Amino acid sequence: MNVRHTRAVFPGSFDPITNGHLDILDRALKVFDEVIVAILVNSEKQALFSVAERVEIIRAACRSRRRVRVDTFSGLLVDYAVKAGASVIVRGLRAISDFEYEFQMALMNRRLDPSIETVFMMPAESYSYLSSRMVKEVFRLGGDVGALVPPVVEKRLRERAAALRSPLPATRPRLPRRRKR
Ligand code: PNS
Repeated sequence: MNVRHTRAVFPGSFDPITNGHLDILDRALKVFDEVIVAILVNSEKQALFSVAERVEIIRAACRSRRRVRVDTFSGLLVDYAVKAGASVIVRGLRAISDFEYEFQMALMNRRLDPSIETVFMMPAESYSYLSSRMVKEVFRLGGDVGALVPPVVEKRLRERAAALRSPLPATRPRLPRRRKR
């Protein structure tokens, strides 16, 4: 019997992961046997959370999802997919505004490696406006993001905000003690 095991890559910046991403991930898990959430290591992009923090956060958010793996990648996505043994790239498509960029990326990836198929999935309507950028902005301006991100992300955002509010006291350089006269 030929048992096919389909592994998909769900790539992105995930800075931070949102409930919209998790919605897509759950849809992908209905179709594919295993999904790798692959975080792009991009030194050019100014991120709120480091790649190591994002790995930790996503692992915590996906603890109950058994067929999910979290990994990082740099370089071409199709090269990573081949190396990881994945034949599918999953991307979420929220609105028409996403379409052009996603279309270009999917066609470029197909040109680079025709053996990798891109599959688009639509999130629940309630997440169609949601993005990591908006979550960060709403949180920064004091809005409630509790329904938009998993609890671990809200906790990390609060911790990050608290750390920024109370930076560690600057250590004073020690001056040489003056000799008593
Ligand atoms: O969450 P994002 O930022 O929309 O994810 C974009 C991502 C990581 C999927 C995309 O930037 C990517 O695949 N980068 C890797 C470089 C690559 O393969 N480029 C060629 C295809 S355009």
